[in-house]
Amino acid sequence: MGGCTSFVNSAEYKDYIGKALGALDVLEKESGEGNDFLGWKHLPSSTPESLLKEFESVRDLWKSKHIDLVVVIGIGGSYLGAKCALEALSHSFEKQLKREKAAPEIVFAGHNLSEEYMAELLDLMKERNVGVIVISKSGTTTEPAVAFRIVKNHMETAYGTEEAAERIVAVTDAKKGALKSLSVQEGYRTFVIEDNVGGRFSVLTPVGLLPIVIAGFDARRILEGAAAMEKECAGPSENNPAVQYAAMRNLLYSKGKKIEILVSFNPKLQYFGEWWKQLYGESEGKDGKGIFPASVNFTTDLHSMGQYIQDGERTLMETVISVGNSNRNVIIGNDPQNLDGLNFLSGKHVEECNRKAELGTKLAHIDGGVPQLSVSIDRIDEYNLGELFYFFEKACGISAYVLGVNPFNQPGVEAYKKNMFALLGKPGYEDQAEKLMARLEN
Ligand code: PA5
Repeated sequence: MGGCTSFVNSAEYKDYIGKALGALDVLEKESGEGNDFLGWKHLPSSTPESLLKEFESVRDLWKSKHIDLVVVIGIGGSYLGAKCALEALSHSFEKQLKREKAAPEIVFAGHNLSEEYMAELLDLMKERNVGVIVISKSGTTTEPAVAFRIVKNHMETAYGTEEAAERIVAVTDAKKGALKSLSVQEGYRTFVIEDNVGGRFSVLTPVGLLPIVIAGFDARRILEGAAAMEKECAGPSENNPAVQYAAMRNLLYSKGKKIEILVSFNPKLQYFGEWWKQLYGESEGKDGKGIFPASVNFTTDLHSMGQYIQDGERTLMETVISVGNSNRNVIIGNDPQNLDGLNFLSGKHVEECNRKAELGTKLAHIDGGVPQLSVSIDRIDEYNLGELFYFFEKACGISAYVLGVNPFNQPGVEAYKKNMFALLGKPGYEDQAEKLMARLEN
C-alpha cells in the first residue's frame, strides 16, 4: 500500500485495519446482513471433481457434433465472469487467425435489449453449427429470457426440437424459476446455481466455469488459484490482503476519495474491470453510500482519461492490477535511420516499456493527488485469474461490512425493471403505467 502513504497516516490505517478485521469476523461467523448468501466463500476448496467432469462431458458431446459456435445467454453476474475470463485467456486475434480451432467460438447474448444485436446474432447462428448455454439464477430476468425465446426458436427451427434440446444447456436454480420449469419440460441438461450464491459472486460456479470449459480453458487451475487465495484471505491477521485492501479503500473513501478506478495495463484485463465494477457497484452502492467503481485500460486510456485522472477533481483513487510477466516476447528492433528517435529502446521488450509506463504513471498520479493501491499477479493465466476472482470477492464482503451495507442484496436494480414492465404493458402494472406515461408526456 506504498502508493497511499502520502495520503493517510499509520494510526488511521491501523484504525481501519481494526474495522476490517471486525468485518472479516462477521463474514467468517456468518453473523452479518445477507448471511444466507455466503456459499461463494468455500467454492474453491469444495467444488467436486465430478462437476468439472460433467462440464467436460458437455464439451465432448458438443465436440462430437462439431459445434463451432456457442451462444452464452445471461446478464450481470450471469455474464460478466465468463466474459472477463474468456477475454483474459484468449488469443487477442483468435477470430482472425487462420488456424484450426480447438474449441468453439463463444459469443454472448441476453445482456442487452438491442434488436440490431439480436438480428446480427441470428445472422451468425444461421451460418454456424450452434450450441447454447442459457444462464439465469432467478430464471425470470427479462433480457436473457427475451434472448432465449428468440434463440430457442432458431435452434428448434434449425435442428428440430429433439436435437435442439441436446444443444441447449441451462444454468439456473435447483427448483424454482421459469428457466428451471422450461428445462424440465424440454429435457435440457441443467447445472445448478446454489441458493446461497448471489449472481455477482457466482463466477466460480457453473455460471462462470461451464463456459470457460466449453471455450477450452482449464477450470481446475482457476479453482486452484482461487483456493490458494481462499487460504490467504481467511486468517484474522493484518497481513490478510483482503483485509488490507478493504481497510485502505474505506479509509481513502472517508477522506473524500469517492471514486475508485481499477487500472490495468493489459487489454486482456479490460473485462476484468467490468466484472469488478459489477461486484463492487452492486454490493456497495446502496443506502446513499458507496465508492463509485470505474475502470480504465492503460496505456490506451492515458490518452483519453489520463488528463482527468492527473488533473481533474481530486476525488479519485486507483487500484492497479500489476502483472509481473508477459506470456509472450517481442523485442523492439534497431532502426539505422532512427527517425522516430526510439533507438534507445532497441533490444528492449515491449513489456519493459509497459512496465516503465506503469511505474511512471503511478508516480505521476500520486503527485497529482491520486492514491495508488496495488494488486500484483505473476502473469495472466487461469491460476492467477482464480486468485484475483477470490481476492476481490472476499475483500468486497469485508469492505461492504466496513461501509455498513449489506453486500449481498441489490434492491436498487428493481426500479428500472418495474418502470420498464409498466411501460411495456405487463398485466398488473396498469396504474403505474398511467403515472409514468403522464410524467413522460410533461
Ligand atoms: O449480481 C446479481 O445478482 C445480478 O447482477 C444478477 O446476476 C443479474 O441480474 C442476472 O440475474 P439472473 O441470473 O437471475 O438472470
